[in-house]
Amino acid sequence: MTAPDAAGPGSVIPVPVVLDCDPGHDDAVAILLAVASPAVDLRAVTTTFGNCSVEDATRNALRVLTLVGAHDVPVGAGAAGPLRGEAALGNYVHGVSGLDGPAMPEPAFAARPEGAVAVLAEAVSSADRPVTVVATGPITNVATLLTEHPGIAGSIAEVVFMGGSTERGNHTPTAEFNTFADPEALDVVLRSGLPVRMVGLNLTHQALATPDVVARMLALDTAVGRTCAEWMGFFGSSYRALWEFEAPPVHDPCTIAALVRPGLLTWREAFVAVELEGRWTRGTTVVDLHHRYPDPPNARVAMTLDAEGFWDLVLDAVDRLGG
Ligand code: BDR
Ligand code: CA
Repeated sequence: MTAPDAAGPGSVIPVPVVLDCDPGHDDAVAILLAVASPAVDLRAVTTTFGNCSVEDATRNALRVLTLVGAHDVPVGAGAAGPLRGEAALGNYVHGVSGLDGPAMPEPAFAARPEGAVAVLAEAVSSADRPVTVVATGPITNVATLLTEHPGIAGSIAEVVFMGGSTERGNHTPTAEFNTFADPEALDVVLRSGLPVRMVGLNLTHQALATPDVVARMLALDTAVGRTCAEWMGFFGSSYRALWEFEAPPVHDPCTIAALVRPGLLTWREAFVAVELEGRWTRGTTVVDLHHRYPDPPNARVAMTLDAEGFWDLVLDAVDRLGG
């Protein structure tokens, strides 16, 4: 995904990226990884309802960017709810604020008044190369962008989203939280004709923040390292209580890792659909790995993660952010 830079061997031309998210502890780590990675040109961070209200998600995004001094990243607040139905919120996982745990700085800058869709449109259309759209929350803002700005697809390289699974769910027995929270929006994206990559629970459950990982965060002896460790503490206690995980799966930065270090993940092409009507299965992704349906593949689906390499990448990024 990164090309050798004409400036010299070993350097890279960064991938232009917009990150649409609902921070959230793992979204926060995704933001840190994107900010710290020379392979990423982070052009905007936009927010959605999801792990908390959109107001809290926006405040959390601004606080995370403030923590690492990334005040120049445009932030836009987006959807307060899904395209259809009521908003599902993930406070039961991420706490009252959506990012409970360590004390965080107050935002040192404000979100742009024009909102997420306008911020995304500007960030995508002003780039000198097609932009990668990464979504780590309900994918409502991206669907709205594609619907309200139909011409913008030509400026998008691909959509990489965290959501769904080849296996079972977490918010319901079959549906992952992000795809449950706005299945109609995911349907728009999957039918858009854009290249789509899905990073689902089957992949992200390989990215566990084990005690060893948390110890490495603390051993950095930096403010950002300690904050990450405390995020993992809160997130881990939710995962222990709700799903009996011994260590929390840190879903969202797997999307950014796929851009920064493509060799860390393996992929399968498949037809992916999302259930819009099921009585028990609304929001469930149907991933046709064995070509049982006549429909041609419309996505690449992440299958395996080099977890050791992933954590080396994240720890290195956190180390570089210092604090
Ligand atoms: C997804 O839901 C949220 O809890 C996380 O931030 C992640 O994006 C995992 O199902
Ligand atoms: Ca998220």
